[in-house]
Amino acid sequence: MGNNQVYNFGAGPAMLPIPVMQQIQEEFLDYRGMGVSVIEISHRSKEFDEVINRCDELIKELSGLPDNYRILYTHGGARMQFSAVPMNLLPLKPANKAVYSETGNFSKQANVEALRYGNIIVASSGEDCNYNKLPPLTRDMVPDDASYAYITSNNTIYGTQYKNYPELGDIPLVVDATSDIFSRPLDFSGIGVIFASMQKNLGPAGTALTIVREDLIGHAMALTPSLLDYAVYEKSHSLANTNNTFAIYTTCLVMEWLKKGGGLDAMAKMNATKANTLYQLMDNSDFYSGTADVGDRSYMNVTFKLPNEELTQRFLGEALKNGLYALKGHRVVGGIRASIYNAMPLAGCQALAAFMQEFERTHG
Ligand SMILES: Cc1ncc(COP(=O)(O)O)c(C=O)c1O
Repeated sequence: MGNNQVYNFGAGPAMLPIPVMQQIQEEFLDYRGMGVSVIEISHRSKEFDEVINRCDELIKELSGLPDNYRILYTHGGARMQFSAVPMNLLPLKPANKAVYSETGNFSKQANVEALRYGNIIVASSGEDCNYNKLPPLTRDMVPDDASYAYITSNNTIYGTQYKNYPELGDIPLVVDATSDIFSRPLDFSGIGVIFASMQKNLGPAGTALTIVREDLIGHAMALTPSLLDYAVYEKSHSLANTNNTFAIYTTCLVMEWLKKGGGLDAMAKMNATKANTLYQLMDNSDFYSGTADVGDRSYMNVTFKLPNEELTQRFLGEALKNGLYALKGHRVVGGIRASIYNAMPLAGCQALAAFMQEFERTHG
């Protein structure tokens, strides 16, 4: 638990690594001997330049980002990308068309937003099974004249996650990776754009990390606000206006932490161990039932139900007394959701598993 009093299973804003928060605290009033805070220095200062360059460098190194991708720090969290993506990418082909796979609330919001700007086809939807599994998306479901195809990598509310991204050949894949970015190695081969708001695996809310293949930049619709235009971000190194310097600084520290911990391979192994600690318990229990289909279940958001609502409320109350915070499932699914992003230590999952066993023993 470090200096925090509880294990925080909140879906986002979510827990950050303790060493990162300690470092922020230590240097908050006096950034590296400057006598001012990192949030008080100019976004155009040499010191901030070092921060943003270091952050880029670490992202490239950790993810193995190919040279033809650009790192952008974009305003407005992930939902702003629901607008930015169609505005920047739809004009790539004259049909002004894109294909969306509907895997939950966030992909639905994304396609509703995109509908304002072009012809949007929902190729597949998990709505019929309450999004408890991922609908297929294959190349033959995507028309040749589509500018891009869109998926949500990890469905925060429903607890489903792509193990591998659909392979769509020449069609650029756009990935909302808000709730699993850098939780495992990334294969960029089919990716046109991948974006993630920061408040789960990166830093504070309100800003997104958006990575774009360079040939997809520079095609934005004329009406695109300049602060949604990828070309404006690329040209200014995300500093066309005053960006969220604190978010970029925090993300940089989180990247240093990831590197120290062995990078994305080590993180992936740890995340699998953490999630399986909970899934194994659920699989061996008649008391807890997982809400996501076994083949698609997420290593980031573990969702499950108890036999009834009264037991669910009691579980939440007793969990809190045991230092297990923010386990309430999203209102559209109900039950319990344990969000176990990169910063959640294995000990947190073990503490939850022990609590679950004891709760089943006393209430089952
Ligand atoms: C997968 C996914 N996409 C998008 C969002 C929306 O992010 P934001 O609130 O930063 O716009 C969330 C938020 O939880 C999310 O989990």
